[in-house]
Amino acid sequence: MAILPSKKKTYDTEGLKVPVSLGVIMDGNGRWAKKRLLPRSAGHRAGAENLKELCRNCGNYGVKYLTVYAFSTENWSRPEDEVHQLMELFIEFFDRYDAELEQEGIRLRFTGDIAGLPEKLQEVCKRGEERSKDRKKMTLIVAFNYGGRREIEYSVRRIAEKVKAGEIDPSDITEQMISDNLYLPDVPDPELIIRPSGEMRLSNFLLWESAYSEFWVSETLWPDFGYDDLTQAFRDYAKRDRRFGGLSEADKK
Ligand code: IPE
Ligand code: IPE
Ligand code: MG
Repeated sequence: MAILPSKKKTYDTEGLKVPVSLGVIMDGNGRWAKKRLLPRSAGHRAGAENLKELCRNCGNYGVKYLTVYAFSTENWSRPEDEVHQLMELFIEFFDRYDAELEQEGIRLRFTGDIAGLPEKLQEVCKRGEERSKDRKKMTLIVAFNYGGRREIEYSVRRIAEKVKAGEIDPSDITEQMISDNLYLPDVPDPELIIRPSGEMRLSNFLLWESAYSEFWVSETLWPDFGYDDLTQAFRDYAKRDRRFGGLSEADKK
């Protein structure tokens, strides 16, 4: 498949702020397809295609970690054929399109209950991570079979094992220890989380990590979410006053 040149050659960063770590909930594929009288699978395909564009734009803007929500632990409750199509699309995307990710200098990582995925998908994850590990421009983290509660459960279980082994005492447990035992402890918490398609909820995405994330919701459906939406998000993010429970600079005496 031909590799498209970046549509925007210059990324003017004036008046906007680019987060180091960004989360995107890729929602609205079904509605996008419905509007066009297409099957939901066509929406998922268009959504997967659009991920390439988001990667390119984020990489060129200087985002370092982009975490995208692709399949939640709750998405198994969808009809079997839709789940199957999403799995097939996953294999196709992360195996066949790796050349495009390579061209953009994008490292690939996965987060979620990967051990709970079919063997074939686990191999795609392993292959994708292995062959991209030296790429430096940006890390794309794909949340697949991911649930924020499942991730916290995972961390708590690992800590409980250390308690059981007598390595630590329950009174040694700290917030930092819970963070350190999550799936990808080296990835910074997202400063900003974007949700296309108008829904104002997290749907179990990065629950622990989003404690102080800024939220930005757009009406644009995920397959149509492009450069202009991303730029607007970064523009609005620049105006947010992140106080972390403290006071604004202006209010400090
Ligand atoms: C997001 O699009 C993709 C997944 C959840 C896998 P949806 O399929 O949720 O699209 P809508 O919300 O029905 O429009
Ligand atoms: C969240 O979207 C999960 C992904 C985008 C992968 P959903 O469509 O599953 O979320 P709800 O059901 O609207 O909360
Ligand atoms: Mg949805």
